[in-house]
Amino acid sequence: MNKVNKKSGTPSAISVFFIAFFAIALIIVSFFAIDFLGTNEKRGAVTYVIGTEEYKLSGKDAYSSNGLLLVCFDDIAKICEMTVTGTSESKVFYARNSDQRVSLSNGNRIATVNSRTHDMLAPAVLFERGILVPLDFVKENMAGIDTKFEDGKLTVLRGEYNSSTKSEPNYEDVGFTGSVDAPVTQPDDTVKVAPTYDFVADLSSFEEYMNPEDTDAYMILVNRTSTIDENYKPENLVPITNVRKDGRSETMVETAEKALQALFIEMRAAGYTDVSVTSGYRSYDKQKYLYGVYTNNEMAAHPDWSREQAQKEVDTYSARPGTSEHQTGLCVDMHNLGSASQKFARQEVYTWLINNCYKFGFVLRFPEGKEDITGYSFEPWHYRFVGRFHASEMHRLDMCLEEYTAHLAENK
Ligand code: DAL
Ligand code: ZN
Repeated sequence: MNKVNKKSGTPSAISVFFIAFFAIALIIVSFFAIDFLGTNEKRGAVTYVIGTEEYKLSGKDAYSSNGLLLVCFDDIAKICEMTVTGTSESKVFYARNSDQRVSLSNGNRIATVNSRTHDMLAPAVLFERGILVPLDFVKENMAGIDTKFEDGKLTVLRGEYNSSTKSEPNYEDVGFTGSVDAPVTQPDDTVKVAPTYDFVADLSSFEEYMNPEDTDAYMILVNRTSTIDENYKPENLVPITNVRKDGRSETMVETAEKALQALFIEMRAAGYTDVSVTSGYRSYDKQKYLYGVYTNNEMAAHPDWSREQAQKEVDTYSARPGTSEHQTGLCVDMHNLGSASQKFARQEVYTWLINNCYKFGFVLRFPEGKEDITGYSFEPWHYRFVGRFHASEMHRLDMCLEEYTAHLAENK
């Protein structure tokens, strides 16, 4: 995603900062840990030095998570002379004399390096000294930091990075022997913590809807094989605020509607003001009616087709009654065109939507390239609410709902 391949000589923006910073070749940090590379076992504590100062992280202060060593980013920032702002839960580390920055928040796997997100291999964890992140994150995003592991000893190196030759930093290291004491605490990775995101608008009052407490409450899968009862009607349907101004009234489940309001507020703040919702909750009968209309239209357009042939075509873009997720009240069609069309994918706002909708708990339900999996052609206008945790996971894993549901079942 946002990794720096130091060997290829194409450092990211944050590396550029560190190139300057690491011009002084100094070995500042070294770590010692015994056998922390295994998995899921209690680990020894880590002792490390920053300059001449020695710290020992033990007990709840230091641990490895699934074989990853977590290191204190505040300490790394200290040796880089970065400044820290934000709350203790969510911190932004700024490079000196620069707006280059790293944002981290407690319990969140998503780190932001400058304006790009980076999915870390484990969530950041807050402890007394600062915020812990997987060592890989530091290594991959900061030119001038490297690690080596030999004879059960890990050393973190700080080296000289030559910005003109972009050659491999000239690392030096010093041996350091640490000590091992109390067993360390493992993070609880069964807790589903959704990332937090920064918005231009103040959306704090929408947070409880975008990121609902019951993370799994909106994960229903409806498709051709996972059908929905003819009589199912969701509770708490409310009018959709940002509906197209053509007299129609559309509804959806309240939590999803509130999250959608937040999405619209932020979308407008980003300068996109002409998108509106054209369809929300649809009853079984409404879907039956629509499917019939589409079939008749296809037959009119292709007089030589039988009804079955027409239905085969309609099946590529419209769900039969009892198989449409519009009946869940958790999705909407929205665009800025006269009618829903794949041309919407060429609108700038579509790019904004796919890059941001997950932050509000929505996913593009029928993506391009996944037609064989979803069973439907690409629908750049159809967005489904699943809540922020799952939407962010689906975004990170680049999975559509069918793939993601199977992934969750496999990883139970
Ligand atoms: N257009 C989608 C597939 C539906 O009818 O639900
Ligand atoms: Zn739709």
